[in-house]
Amino acid sequence: MTHYQRVGDVPRKRHTMHRDGDGNRLAEELMGEEGFSAASSLLYHRHSPSAITAISPASITRSPLHPNEPLTPWHLRAPQLPPGGDLVTARHVLAATSTLTLCWVSAERTSPLYRDATGDELVYVQTGTGRLETSFGPLEVGPGDYLLVPAATTHRWVVEDGGVLEALVLEAAGHVGVPERYLTSTGQLREGAPFCERDLRVPAEPLLVEATDVEVLVRSRAGWSWHTHAHHPFDVVGWDGCLYPYAFNIADFEPITGRIHQPPPAHQVFAGTGFVICNFVPRKVDYHPLAVPVPYYHSNVDSDEVMFYCGGDYEARKGSGIGPGSISLHPGGHSHGPQPGAVERSLGAESFDELAVMVDTFRPLELGEGGAACEDPAYPWSWSGRGPTR
Ligand SMILES: [Fe+2]
Repeated sequence: MTHYQRVGDVPRKRHTMHRDGDGNRLAEELMGEEGFSAASSLLYHRHSPSAITAISPASITRSPLHPNEPLTPWHLRAPQLPPGGDLVTARHVLAATSTLTLCWVSAERTSPLYRDATGDELVYVQTGTGRLETSFGPLEVGPGDYLLVPAATTHRWVVEDGGVLEALVLEAAGHVGVPERYLTSTGQLREGAPFCERDLRVPAEPLLVEATDVEVLVRSRAGWSWHTHAHHPFDVVGWDGCLYPYAFNIADFEPITGRIHQPPPAHQVFAGTGFVICNFVPRKVDYHPLAVPVPYYHSNVDSDEVMFYCGGDYEARKGSGIGPGSISLHPGGHSHGPQPGAVERSLGAESFDELAVMVDTFRPLELGEGGAACEDPAYPWSWSGRGPTR
């Protein structure tokens, strides 16, 4: 996101001496994308962010991915995957490309402190409440929230005792942002975009924790490590700039509708390197007298399409076995569209009560261990009503 925010205690001029009320010198840190050339923020720490006292390997391994060969449309029942663990280390890998990994997690405890230096993470909360604590400050989270965590932001996911936080996690190799066509030349969300700055929730105050020898799980391009920080990384008394974590709730997305069917780009919410994210929210549907409100069959020549059915009734998929919590993967090379009877049922409809998050990837998706563990073998035959089972 590119609009300027300022939280807590920052000096009048950047890159000048700054002290707290007791006269202690604060350590200025720039967090920036693309070196020093793109969005950045300046953070003011009580202690050196570089001071570490130990380094050790972290034993986090992931199973190899499998190419989608022979080419198959998939239905994944992600909520059937084993719950437990935390939102960072207990992720089930559903599918991945070279620039994006999609994971499912049903977290029951608070995560370790963590930072992912390989790219931004976008977390869509399906059920439960919790808190995202970051070096920029805290954000309360709940169902329908997207949480964008910029690369290398130190953070943790807090789940209260007895709580569960169910989420779809998108790990990007790069940065995730608002589609450029929604922005003015100076970075404001323009009129006609389906959301605006008021819809974004940003940390409102610093989060300060005093502790020493604090472990942080670090994901880098080389793998996973533990760094022990001399002082707790939540020591930022103030920050300002255009790079920070934020929340956006899917209920704040204002759908764009038309007399005839609007294509998925009308529902786009985010863009990343090699993928886009759209969401389909409850809305009035197409109002031409001969309109067909469900989508036409489509062959996504250059992309694989993932759809996460978050809630409501997804009209076009009725009868396919897909329900709330399901994830479909429709690969390029296989035309897909409404299930039998869906077109007829949709005729004359005034509104759809559906909630779904779509991820289109422009590089081929391969199946992860989590995806393979929850696949529905009958789904490929759901359009024809017959076929072998695998
Ligand atoms: Fe589609």
